[in-house]
Amino acid sequence: MRNIVILISGGGSNMAAIVKTAQRDAWRTAYGAQIAAVISNRADAKGLLFAQEQGLHAQALDHTDFATREAFDTALAGLIDRFDSTTQPALVVLAGFMRILTPGFVARYAGRLLNIHPSLLPAFPGLHTHQRAIDAGCKFSGATVHLVSAELDCGPILAQAVVPVLPGDTATTLAARVLTQEHLIYPQAITQWLVTNNQAKCSVEPADGAI
Ligand code: GAR
Repeated sequence: MRNIVILISGGGSNMAAIVKTAQRDAWRTAYGAQIAAVISNRADAKGLLFAQEQGLHAQALDHTDFATREAFDTALAGLIDRFDSTTQPALVVLAGFMRILTPGFVARYAGRLLNIHPSLLPAFPGLHTHQRAIDAGCKFSGATVHLVSAELDCGPILAQAVVPVLPGDTATTLAARVLTQEHLIYPQAITQWLVTNNQAKCSVEPADGAI
């Protein structure tokens, strides 16, 4: 079974969309893949509650408990790798995970580390994407799913969705419009990744707390 570990920092609506799609489309039988864990760098992340309600392994690893970025990323990798094996390496999905990752972490999960960013990359990497798109007078904005490379919000693009920027839009209204599309393209992009990277499917029983 291929394990998927989802990293969040807050609401976790993208994570929830992925979990619901995995359930609806029976990823276990269709792709030999299961959501094995949801990990947040903030203990108060609302998404952890949803994950718990779904019976998933949900855990916080508070980055403020670590003196350096490297120390946190090392501990995070140790946690993720509990769901890893040499034959079936886990897919790591950043879903609103608001941390800059160290080059060592990114290299460790090269090719199996996905991110979603709320802009049409390469436009507007970083924070405050919606306000920046409005301020720039963009007529369209959107979201991008990409493989993660060492540079922030960079890496090969796997999927994008476009939405209009409407007169009178605020960062809040535009973010909401973009988010509805994120919930569609992220599960689709993960599905496509699972198909494209289909190593030997296995039929072992799912782990406890996995869907
Ligand atoms: C989403 O809009 C996601 O694209 C963004 O944070 C939000 C998380 O929402 N991610 C980034 O800005 C990463 N650079 P969610 O917690 O409800 O999924």
